[in-house]
Amino acid sequence: MELKHVKYDLMETAAGHRIGVLKIARPEALNALNKFVVQDLKVLVGELASKREIRALIVTGEGEKSFVAGADIKEFEGLHTSSARELALQGQALFSKIEDLPFPVIATVNGFALGGGLELALACDFILASSKARWGLPEVTLGLIPGYGGTQRLLRAVGRSLAKRVAMSGEMFTAKQGYEWGLFAEVHEPEALMTAALKLAETLASRAPLAVGWVKEAIHHGADHGLAEGLKHEADLFSRTFETSDHIEGVRAFIEKRAPNFLGK
Ligand code: CAA
Repeated sequence: MELKHVKYDLMETAAGHRIGVLKIARPEALNALNKFVVQDLKVLVGELASKREIRALIVTGEGEKSFVAGADIKEFEGLHTSSARELALQGQALFSKIEDLPFPVIATVNGFALGGGLELALACDFILASSKARWGLPEVTLGLIPGYGGTQRLLRAVGRSLAKRVAMSGEMFTAKQGYEWGLFAEVHEPEALMTAALKLAETLASRAPLAVGWVKEAIHHGADHGLAEGLKHEADLFSRTFETSDHIEGVRAFIEKRAPNFLGK
């Protein structure tokens, strides 16, 4: 895949599992999401969605300073109501595609995660952050509101009170606050961050891939429905695991006291 603003590498774990590493690569603008970055992301995410052999994806930003510093503010000049709506809908559709990828996605927030950058991280399954990370939704400082899902996904991630605290103040917060508020799963020193992300990716990659994907689906479904519907969907997916050969392998490996060899079938 020849993309200019997004880099993609496929790594193999010691156990032979494939882990993708996606890097937003526009460090001269702190990896701000301009139309070219978004276009490259669309292409890449579209391709990755069908790649069942990937067991986990790590998303990060190029350089030492920033994950993603938001949507490109310079592109906002000249927008009007209908083009602004279109921009938001396109960004939301892209981030929903990332959220719906069938494998686990780990955001590795190595610096600024602001506006669209935080919104990108929120579309991932886990956020691991550098102790130097600074994050927030500064749109109100620009006379705007978040448009790539920030009000909705932050609400679901940390609840009404903290979501309002972040999005209505436009302030920047520390990694420690992100961890204490339950937004970041882990915080690491900058030099240890990628190793930690790879370690988590390896753990996830070693589990039954269909089951991991269905846990993700069940949690997403439950977040948008009532408890009764969520439980029904969980039971449907639980029953589907019994159609897989991986469940036979997992149970047999437990009985035989050995590590399972899951094939994603
Ligand atoms: N859009 C466009 N360019 C950006 C950018 C952004 N979001 N963030 C940083 N840059 C550019 C700067 O313009 C600068 O470019 P030049 O060298 O050409 O001037 C370069 O990146 C380096 O940035 P700074 O010199 O500002 O670096 P700093 O260390 O002094 O400050 C910062 C870092 C605090 C992150 C600051 O750059 C900043 O506040 N950026 C904007 C953050 C922001 O408001 N993001 C939200 C965008 S709106 C949005 O995302 C809407 C949505 O929901 C879709």
